Amino acid sequence: MTADSAKDIQYLKAIGRICAETLRKMMAQTRAGMTTRELDEIGRAFLEAEGARSAPQAMYNFPGATCISISPVIAHGIPNEYVLHEGELIHIDVSAELDGYYADTGASLIVSKRERSFEKLIEATKATLTKALHAAKAGNPLNGIGRTVQHEARKRGYNVIYDLTGHGIGRKLHESPKEILNFYYPDDRRILNDGLVLAIEPFLTTGIGRVIEGSDGWSLRTLDNAIAAQFEHTIVVTRNEPIILTL
Ligand code: CO
Ligand code: CO
Repeated sequence: MTADSAKDIQYLKAIGRICAETLRKMMAQTRAGMTTRELDEIGRAFLEAEGARSAPQAMYNFPGATCISISPVIAHGIPNEYVLHEGELIHIDVSAELDGYYADTGASLIVSKRERSFEKLIEATKATLTKALHAAKAGNPLNGIGRTVQHEARKRGYNVIYDLTGHGIGRKLHESPKEILNFYYPDDRRILNDGLVLAIEPFLTTGIGRVIEGSDGWSLRTLDNAIAAQFEHTIVVTRNEPIILTL
């Protein structure tokens, strides 16, 4: 959507804050020995207390309030009886709706331990997202986002995941502009406009950057079982720095 009123911004900020707080709470309470269903329950309860609805559940009938993916699964992992282990690289994605407005955020983390190779990937992905957000300015080409993601990933010794993209958001979880690629595609002529609401989500990996769907019909894992990380924010594009809704 294009946010073109103070009301739009106010409602987008409200759902953005809820998604961000849900993710923070879940990250803070992630422990070895708990199941991913227990972790999801923390998110579900907080969304409910805020009056928000899980977007994947409401829109796609996803079997969980949030997506919790254990590397090499990097997206759409189903919360279940799987018990988290110390030192695992996991990803949590939270998207939700309130009063007809949507936001989407995500982060990667390590369960209860420090693990240098995972930390390096996490830091690189986070830094790549920050750079990509700065590339999202009204009047700039949309493909500048993917160009920045790919450049920053390579600079840090990683590959992007080619199959997973950012997206327009606001009145739905996924809307126009579709396919905000995480690599440079010169033929994409779209230009960013003032007020455009986007979910920007770089995925970085040590592998070839391809994913396949798991047998559960949801989870997406790297084809080569390489580790991967993602960070995601929902923003409103402006002529200057974007408004980050999910901080
Ligand atoms: Co997301
Ligand atoms: Co998204």
